[in-house]
Amino acid sequence: MRHASKKASSPHRAEHIPAPAVKRLSLYLRELETHLSSGSRTISSRRLGEALGLTDAQVRKDLAYFGQFGQPGIGYDVPQLSAAIRHILGTDRDWNVVLVGAGNLGSALAAYRGFARKGFHLVAIFDSDERKWGQPVPGLKDVPVLPVADLERVVRQYDVRLGIMAVPAASAQEVADRLISAGVRGLLNFAPTALSCPDHVAVSAVDMAVQLEQLSFQLGQLGLLQQRSRRPG
Ligand code: NAI
Repeated sequence: MRHASKKASSPHRAEHIPAPAVKRLSLYLRELETHLSSGSRTISSRRLGEALGLTDAQVRKDLAYFGQFGQPGIGYDVPQLSAAIRHILGTDRDWNVVLVGAGNLGSALAAYRGFARKGFHLVAIFDSDERKWGQPVPGLKDVPVLPVADLERVVRQYDVRLGIMAVPAASAQEVADRLISAGVRGLLNFAPTALSCPDHVAVSAVDMAVQLEQLSFQLGQLGLLQQRSRRPG
């Protein structure tokens, strides 16, 4: 594997790096990819920060956790920094992913092509509802829904390390336990419940209701809650 940075740090140091800095790496990468598609090969920390509402000092500080990038007066080489960030994030390789829960949300996630473009390949979808077995989800013909009984076999066969969970909250822990015992080591959980998982498993939770609550709070902080909007109809 070719290293794009001069001195990219070993992933073993990751525990010393603040989580927000790691999170921002994905945002930097997204901006770099957009920047590259516009035809520019270099970018300054100021420009990169501006696009994300961050200061140039913050950008430099974040990237310094991972290595030495960029040159004074020139900025960052966009393809090189993108490759280095992909290496740090572990997305310079492809990942096989399974999805559990072929309902409304699961089907929409499965049909989203953006994951495959980033190297995350959905190899199987599982559901406990036998009426869905053997059926494709809308928008994705080639990955039929399988019974949960096939989960262990598929995870081993395709060396799956990542699982997406779009099941009801009441089933989430049981599904997580099953994925973990099959060998999955990273869970993206959409169910609105906290999972209890061993230390060797990474969990990322997405809850848009929580994010809306945070936005509501921020609007309150901005003094914008006096005029409450009415529901339509
Ligand atoms: P849904 O009811 O349409 O789909 C759930 C699917 O999970 C069904 O197909 C069901 O048969 C399957 N399922 C249930 N128990 C299972 C088990 N033990 N093993 C395998 N499959 C099982 O529900 P929807 O709307 O797709 O939501 C799914 C989950 O995502 C819910 O927990 C919901 O609260 C959550 N959600 C989260 C959002 C977020 O922002 N994170 C947004 C929308 C929904």
